[in-house]
Amino acid sequence: MNLLKVAICGGGRTGHLNAILFKQLPDVQVSLHTHNQEVIEQHARQTPMQALLPDGSTLSARLDRVTSDARAAVEDADIVIITVPAHARSQTLKDIAPHLTTSKPVFIGAIPGFCGFDWLAEATLPDRPNVVIWGMKDVPHTAFELTPGRSIKMGGGKSQLYVATHAREPQTARRQLEKTLTRLYGPCVTMLDHFLEITLTPGNPIMHSSVIYGLIGPYGQWHRKIFPQRMCWWTECPELGAYFLERMDQESQQLCAVISQRLGIDLSSVKSLKQEIVEAYGEQIRDQSSMLSILRTNQAYNDILAPMVPAADNRAGYVIERESRAFNEDVAYGLVLLVEMAKRFDLKVPYIEEVLQWSVAYMDGLRGSALDYFPRQWPHTTSAAA
Ligand SMILES: NC(=O)c1ccc[n+]([C@@H]2O[C@H](COP(=O)([O-])OP(=O)(O)OC[C@H]3O[C@@H](n4cnc5c(N)ncnc54)[C@H](OP(=O)(O)O)[C@@H]3O)[C@@H](O)[C@H]2O)c1
Repeated sequence: MNLLKVAICGGGRTGHLNAILFKQLPDVQVSLHTHNQEVIEQHARQTPMQALLPDGSTLSARLDRVTSDARAAVEDADIVIITVPAHARSQTLKDIAPHLTTSKPVFIGAIPGFCGFDWLAEATLPDRPNVVIWGMKDVPHTAFELTPGRSIKMGGGKSQLYVATHAREPQTARRQLEKTLTRLYGPCVTMLDHFLEITLTPGNPIMHSSVIYGLIGPYGQWHRKIFPQRMCWWTECPELGAYFLERMDQESQQLCAVISQRLGIDLSSVKSLKQEIVEAYGEQIRDQSSMLSILRTNQAYNDILAPMVPAADNRAGYVIERESRAFNEDVAYGLVLLVEMAKRFDLKVPYIEEVLQWSVAYMDGLRGSALDYFPRQWPHTTSAAA
């Protein structure tokens, strides 16, 4: 079998776990690009990286390269997998762009590919005929409790991995990508017809923002108050948050229907959030009767803490963290994109807009957002990026 050179950009939880899994395979070389000195030092000391699996077993790996040098990480890569959050992807792409090979196809993808990774990569890597842009709908497994350079815990895995390419990519490139990802992940890879199936799948952007709005937004019971202890995202989800989530889910489905109809593309794979969660977790949800009960009684969601930090000025208790990924990633790159897409079709999404406006004020304004790369002319485009 040919040697497959994989570069993973981002030495966080997802980066660690995928790197270890790939190193279990024959003829796969893995380099990891990270700014985390601890990961680099552990590698230099020849410390093996370990993945702790849900059944209690352990996988061990030694990566081929672990480096903060973008050139060394990606220069000979066949496939580059970006595992940094959406708000950090632009910088990562800029860092690696000058060092990507031009002498063979190079498949550049994001896991997960949400927040319009296809548009970002197209804008950041122009005039690269050998670059094939792709994204995976979700992470293949949840990954948590990272000890940098040493170990990572693997959570539940997805039975199917859905992958899309940028609409510009030819069939030959799609087939080659499917082959490569099947080699890496096994026969669970399914190619989607359109990247919008990833972009429009409801997930963290509406889930996190609605719950925070329900807790501390203007009508929330914790508005301008300090929490006595950290709260769990889902088991303690407020009714108001579930209400907004359900409304935002409906608006997201309306957006999907309008785009499907106006652009004449099949988006039937994009399900409502409620349906996605019920299908993904099934029996783990004790009460499937409403959005609130689904969130509160899903055992897979137990004990996941909301992003909180100690209150300022030595006051006892906690507040929702303004710098959390729920804002920097989900609001700035997820919600912003949904609202802008709806605007382009003159579709009103009042619940999503209400939550977006409040969230942006809470985070003291947007620094970067998906608008930095969302094509200005979309959905009218000559590059078939619709
Ligand atoms: N972990 C999961 O189970 C899970 C589940 C669902 C979705 N996701 C998604 O997967 C993506 C990666 O998540 P993760 O859990 O692997 O993240 P993580 O453990 O926090 O790692 C993210 C990595 O991105 C890099 N990075 C660069 N700039 C950053 C910034 N401004 N803020 C944070 N990280 C930055 C860092 O890499 P270096 O320090 O190595 O340079 C960091 O280690 C995110 O989009 C997340 O929403 C993860």
